[in-house]
Amino acid sequence: MQTVTTTAALSAAIHDAKQANRTIGLVPTMGALHEGHLSLIRRARQENDLVVVSIFVNPIQFNNKEDLAKYPRTLEADCTAAASAGADIAFAPSVEEMYPEPVTTVYHFGPIEEVMEGPRRPGHFSGVAVVVRRLFDLTQPTRAYFGEKDFQQIAIIRNLLEQIKYPIQLVPCPIVRADDGLALSSRNMRLSPEARAIAPNIYATLTQAVEMSEFEDVDTVRDWVLDTLSTFHQVNSLPEGLCFEPEYFEIVNDTTLQPIADWHDAPGVVGCIAVWLDGVRLIDVIRFLPTE
Ligand code: PAJ
Repeated sequence: MQTVTTTAALSAAIHDAKQANRTIGLVPTMGALHEGHLSLIRRARQENDLVVVSIFVNPIQFNNKEDLAKYPRTLEADCTAAASAGADIAFAPSVEEMYPEPVTTVYHFGPIEEVMEGPRRPGHFSGVAVVVRRLFDLTQPTRAYFGEKDFQQIAIIRNLLEQIKYPIQLVPCPIVRADDGLALSSRNMRLSPEARAIAPNIYATLTQAVEMSEFEDVDTVRDWVLDTLSTFHQVNSLPEGLCFEPEYFEIVNDTTLQPIADWHDAPGVVGCIAVWLDGVRLIDVIRFLPTE
């Protein structure tokens, strides 16, 4: 695998593949690679002639300075992992290389950015769109791979592709979880051992919610999830501070991302959650079963 840090070196590295009309798979990441990222790289490897992984902690998508400062940076280990998963090129630019000029572009996505992460992370999705478009321009991929863990991000990228009309195939990939069910995330390593031990209860609660959806209405299921996690520390007599603080749990149409009132309101339904635990913000998604 070749590691490049400049846009010129990236262009040179993909030049021959482009000339020969070979397919290119792009996997955008912010590094700190784990099995979730590697599953995207392996999938891209299976489906393309050339696999490019970008590793760039994108400052303009962070609306919290502390989160940006604390973001893990492990380039050497990332390159080893990306290579073993089958990447051909790792593109790891500096901020100056990626943004030689101050960024002034702002993207708007309408209703899909007015829910869940959107209002809570102002500017986040526009920042994601700016960097992803730049990566698309630099790489001109045939396919781009994104994880369903960031469910709303996929809807945003789908909308971005409609806006800019690039013929890139968006490939959503399933969430990879730890054996105990916790969705893999680079943020998990910031959890204390005690918090990490209870964190799987997020997914456990979501899977119970899916079972409950067979006989309860949408609002009841939503409120039950929020209530179960908010009261978890009391019910289990946990020490002060070791508690789940749900920021939102929304049961939405999987395409429009708008909350539904009835299970029959959408052909595909997902539940998206953001929960604080031990000072770490965790997100997860569950798919509800189709109604008959
Ligand atoms: P990052 O959080 O590094 O994630 C990179 C990709 O890996 C995303 O598409 C994300 O959904 C996917 N991913 C993360 N955890 C996963 C898991 N447990 N299972 C499956 N896929 C998982 O998302 C970003 O970076 C950035 O916003 C980016 C798109 C790179 C733009 O800066």
